[in-house]
Amino acid sequence: MTTRMNSDVAYEKMSDVDLGRGDGLAKSQMYFRCLLLFTSLTTVLLALLFLQALFMPGLPPSSESPSPRLSLPRSCSDQCKVSLVESIPEGLKFNSSVTHPSIYDTWLKLIREARSSLDIASFYWTMTNNDTKTDVPSAKPGEDVLQELGKLSGTLAVRIAVNTPTASQPQENIQFLRNSGAEVRTVNMKALTTGVLHTKFWVVDKKHIYIGSANMDWRSLTQVKELGAVVYDCGCLAEDLGKIFEAYWYLGQSKTIPSPWPSEYATPYNKDSPMKVPLNGTDSRVYFSSSPPPLCADGRTQDLQSILSVIDDAQQFVYIAVMNYLPTMEFSHPKRYWADIDTQLRRVAYERKVRVRLLISCWGSTSPIMFPFLRSLASVQDTKRSLDIQVKIFTVPATPKQKEIPYARVNHNKYMVTDKVAYIGTSNWSGDYFVNTAGSALVVNQSQSADTTLQQQLQAVFERDWDSAYSSLLSHHADDHREDICHNV
Ligand SMILES: *[C@@H]1O[C@H](CO)[C@@H](O)[C@H](O)[C@H]1NC(C)=O
Ligand SMILES: *[C@@H]1O[C@H](CO)[C@@H](O)[C@H](O)[C@H]1NC(C)=O
Ligand SMILES: *[C@@H]1O[C@H](CO)[C@@H](O)[C@H](O)[C@H]1NC(C)=O
Ligand SMILES: *[C@@H]1O[C@H](CO)[C@@H](O)[C@H](O)[C@H]1NC(C)=O
Ligand SMILES: *[C@@H]1O[C@H](CO)[C@@H](O)[C@H](O)[C@H]1NC(C)=O
Repeated sequence: MTTRMNSDVAYEKMSDVDLGRGDGLAKSQMYFRCLLLFTSLTTVLLALLFLQALFMPGLPPSSESPSPRLSLPRSCSDQCKVSLVESIPEGLKFNSSVTHPSIYDTWLKLIREARSSLDIASFYWTMTNNDTKTDVPSAKPGEDVLQELGKLSGTLAVRIAVNTPTASQPQENIQFLRNSGAEVRTVNMKALTTGVLHTKFWVVDKKHIYIGSANMDWRSLTQVKELGAVVYDCGCLAEDLGKIFEAYWYLGQSKTIPSPWPSEYATPYNKDSPMKVPLNGTDSRVYFSSSPPPLCADGRTQDLQSILSVIDDAQQFVYIAVMNYLPTMEFSHPKRYWADIDTQLRRVAYERKVRVRLLISCWGSTSPIMFPFLRSLASVQDTKRSLDIQVKIFTVPATPKQKEIPYARVNHNKYMVTDKVAYIGTSNWSGDYFVNTAGSALVVNQSQSADTTLQQQLQAVFERDWDSAYSSLLSHHADDHREDICHNV
């Protein structure tokens, strides 16, 4: 809570120059006055900023300096094109016409399109057979992407922010990219927040973005089920996601987290004032959320607040597809219960009769403690009293050969779709991911539009998976023995 208070205080202290975020008439009038005043000074200010950047490259620009983002539009006129993208594990077949471009093709396309810059925020890198000590043809797409990234690194500005690798994590890819000309910074989230950098997104030429569940791991292209979104020709969104990248980039060479963050990292776009942007011509309200709270600069919605508000806003249904769901701090000792999301789901189911569906993953590494809590949620089901929470468990089957691939064959999706909103994130859903781990999410609200394309497409993906033969209903009876079944997958 102290963090929230700090940033509220910081908000109050923001100089008038930062009115880009202001709501209401008075503020927008002031905005124009300031704009007029500062138009004449802009050259001087930019020169000052430039000098500052020149002489203090290691420091983030100070929060006292006027924001160079004065002219940030509240609505964006870019003709942004959005698409869901997926990795469907080898051998998985859906009896459905719902398909989307593959993450592999999307990454190659982004690499091909890149003209000036590519920024990647990543957790870890294992893009080759060598990294996983395997020898399977399905690593080829990952190896291709790594090669292409290597080629690109020699020709334009490639920056990679990665969680500081542990001694046991392979570092060959990172070294290869460095040798090829990429700039790599390791972010020591363990030291900074006791978490990890779990975010996975790309920003290309400051105008195309990709965000989603896939790690920089060959298995994420062919052996693990992943979901993300790509947005092309959208400088407005790329600029905003770029600010989250810049924060990681700064932390890659800092031992402390700025508090408050300098105004360059602040955003006017959040759950209360999302960016108005056409996505494939559909009026949409969009923002990016981020976690953990200390990484949220002024104006940025915390990932947890985003999830809670999206659930709260649903009128008819909340569909959630996440690998892990736990109302606990998964990695804390002593144990801590953490039920913010759980409570919100029960609340909307009870108070507003919202239909809640959770699609959770089952694989060898599934934490058995997940199931008692999921059964508890699933027991909130009573047709007479209009209580309607259901939980299904999604299992990716594996042939004996596929079983030999370590940490593969799982549904790694991390999204939520309601009757109004599509939320595409990068975090597992347990307390840790919102309290100390760095993640981010794209939140698209198309409830104002008649045709709600992205939301509808995400709903169709959820329904395809929910209705598929790979999903089975979790009974609220403990004799379900699901924990044993998953461990034998
Ligand atoms: C595929 O779906 C169609 C229409 O829902 C159904 O008629 C058919 O039996 C399904 N086939 C399989 C193999 O599940
Ligand atoms: C392959 O992996 C080993 C360690 O697992 C490493 O020492 C070696 O450098 C790697 N080779 C290449 C070409 O990346
Ligand atoms: C997310 O959960 C899975 C399963 O427990 C785990 O393998 C993965 O490492 C988690 N992510 C992080 C950053 O801990
Ligand atoms: C979506 O947009 C509508 C209209 O602006 C707004 O009332 C609603 O609160 C928004 N929902 C979310 C979850 O942001
Ligand atoms: C947007 O348009 C592109 C191509 O023009 C298409 O591939 C994509 O599926 C569309 N997205 C949505 C959400 O309809």
